Amino acid sequence: MHHYRPVTSEIVEELRAIVGEKNVLYGEPDRMQDYAHDEVADPEYARMPDVVVKPGSAEEVSAILRLANRELIPVTPRGAGSGLSGGAVPAYGGILLSTERMNRILEIDRENLVAMVEPGVITNDINEAVAEYGLFYAGYPMSVETCTIGGNVAENAGGGRAIKYGVTGHHVLGLEVVLPTGEIIHLGGRRLKDVTGYDLIHLFIGSEGTLGIVTQIILRLMPLPRARAVLLAPFPDVRSAVVALPQVVTRGRLIPAAVEFMDRLSVETAYRFIGESPPRPDIGAMLLIELDGYSEGEVEAQTEAVVEACLVAGALDVYVGNTPATARRMWLPRQRVAEAFKAISPVQSLEDIVVPPAAIPALMEELTRLSEKYGVLIPCYGHAGDGNLHATPVKPPEMPMEVWKERLPFLLTELYQAVVQLGGTLSGEHGVGSKRAQYLPLVMEPEAIALQRRLKELFDPLWILNPGKIFVG
Ligand code: LAC
Ligand code: ZN
Repeated sequence: MHHYRPVTSEIVEELRAIVGEKNVLYGEPDRMQDYAHDEVADPEYARMPDVVVKPGSAEEVSAILRLANRELIPVTPRGAGSGLSGGAVPAYGGILLSTERMNRILEIDRENLVAMVEPGVITNDINEAVAEYGLFYAGYPMSVETCTIGGNVAENAGGGRAIKYGVTGHHVLGLEVVLPTGEIIHLGGRRLKDVTGYDLIHLFIGSEGTLGIVTQIILRLMPLPRARAVLLAPFPDVRSAVVALPQVVTRGRLIPAAVEFMDRLSVETAYRFIGESPPRPDIGAMLLIELDGYSEGEVEAQTEAVVEACLVAGALDVYVGNTPATARRMWLPRQRVAEAFKAISPVQSLEDIVVPPAAIPALMEELTRLSEKYGVLIPCYGHAGDGNLHATPVKPPEMPMEVWKERLPFLLTELYQAVVQLGGTLSGEHGVGSKRAQYLPLVMEPEAIALQRRLKELFDPLWILNPGKIFVG
């Protein structure tokens, strides 16, 4: 539907003049290969850019976008490329705009409890920088050590601590954005309240790099908890693991910092990948619960309540890690599970469905039904606290590739339909990207999709910014 022009050597010269010679990659497939994919396993979603450009300022981003409009060339913004929906992949080729050089923490404002950062900062580096002031940034995407804050904003990344702290968007107070047509605008600021005009900040957050390119972010900081504990609770089955959660909240009168879930196959795969054995051989499902608080005593009391709630719900045992080293060790299988499946079952479709948490057992039953119907395994792990689960259909080794390719769209269609029936939707944190664009009509009213397309056209009349994402065509 969209027709773009090729990137000519004259255009490359212009790009070099904007960002400097050494910040343009052109005609160097080896070095450009890294920019051709994200973390989606299926190579079908990879695509080489024609040119990679690394601007250093909002003005340079603006000049690139103006050039792209004039010449009708698609531009795809990219942070670390750790996304899981094809969002940072140049679906139509053209210019790949990497924010890697815009990686400064510009200010830590301790009086207003905010940090001002550029989009290319690694999310974890923000926490390392603010910890010495007793502060932390509460957004916690699972890939925190590799992803960038700009990518987190573009995808409205969720991750492990959404149940207590919310997702990225809950911590963004201000943005500098370059519009697809090149104008630079500033939204929000160092203030918690703002009802002046439309809430444009939250229109940009999660817009998957289709409405503008974020060049500066003001983040809310919170007091760094003094104490933390991680509890690992194996259960005989999924249902008992899931009913433990409301028990924890109501009996314990507390909101855990994280409640992560892994089914049996995920537990086995992740532990095997990290070269360890699961804590018991008879785990049907496992919860990993993180608690934090402002005193040791507070976390001890929380721990006691959570242990009791888990045991009442049917936990086989509860292991407590209350030193940084044991906590890290307990988190490791959960943090590495996506990587484990990618290494062990590379032909797969890592999903990101989200349902009301109480619907998780019904969802798991649906996964079992689909698994039997289509003859594929569908292991599942994720963020039980908020109902966001990474069900991952994987091709069995004996299934021919053509059969897998033929069946997967039917399986996904049925899965998304079931998720909608349960009150959920198709992506909780990874985004629609190119990977799920064809399925959007299954989960959203046509009027709502049409309204979003009109918004896209208003911001980006020539559809030069990150085309091929969210919408088909
Ligand atoms: C996780 C990634 C896949 O939760 O979102 O591990
Ligand atoms: Zn996740």
